[in-house]
Order: sequence, then C-alpha cells, then structure tokens
Amino acid sequence: MDHDNADISGEQIPIEPLRPVPAGPVIVSVCISCKSADTGTIVGPDMLDAVKAALGDGDAAVMVRPVQCLSVCKRPATVAVTSPDGYTFLFGDLQTDSGSAALISFVESYQRADYGLVPWRERAEVLRKGMVARVPPLRWSPEDGRAPK
Ligand code: FES
Repeated sequence: MDHDNADISGEQIPIEPLRPVPAGPVIVSVCISCKSADTGTIVGPDMLDAVKAALGDGDAAVMVRPVQCLSVCKRPATVAVTSPDGYTFLFGDLQTDSGSAALISFVESYQRADYGLVPWRERAEVLRKGMVARVPPLRWSPEDGRAPK
C-alpha cells in the first residue's frame, strides 16, 4: 500500500505535489548570435551586456549566461529564463533597453512564484508580446497537464 496516497479506508486519494518556489539560481540565457533582421548586425552581445547590467553580475541567485542560438533566430534578440525546478520561458523580439529592463521585474516575480510561473499580469508588455514558449518543469507533471494555480 502506498501510505502517501491512501486514507484510513484504504482509498487512494490523489496528493498534489508540493508547490515550491524555484530553488537554486534563476538562469537567464541570452543568445549572443542573434542578428538584426534588417541589417544583419549581431545584436546578441549588446543584449547580454544590458541584461548583465540590469540583473547584476555575480549575484548567486541569478545567473546570466551567453548561449549561441535558442532557435528563435527570426525574432532577435532572444532570451530564456529558467531554474532547476521552475518553468522555462522563452522570449523573442526584445530590444536591448526595454527587454533588459523588463527582465528585472520578471526575474523578481519568477523567484516568488510557484514553480516560477510568473502571472500574466506581472509580465511587462514587451515580454507578453515576445513570448515564444513556456515549458513546465519536470516536478510539475499532473496527469491532465494543467498549469499550477
Ligand atoms: S541566433 Fe539567436 S536564436 Fe538563433
């Protein structure tokens, strides 16, 4: 018998998994190979510098790292936000100044949210418009696939 899922009569009672806030650092991955669709100019390194300046470099709770290509090449600049047990968000169409500024409040909300699922109302407009994907963490895998409330 599975004691974690049974009541006194022996009936199985589904138990929701714990709803943790993300543990470990929030990882912000900035594509440094993105190019402007208009000019072909590489815009990724400027975005990386801006995100590092906005989120701080050396903060143990936030890790900003360069990556080469997030497979959203037609929507530069692109950034992903994730954590070891939190949602993964992928954004495109970010401008250096407005995108990096928007990521400050997004990361703060991410650190407070269950599984890092930042509520829609807490996302800046540029991140709402630039949303490419959100992927649940492995620890949140209910049978019906719903998002945590
Ligand atoms: S080059 Fe930046 S997403 Fe592909």
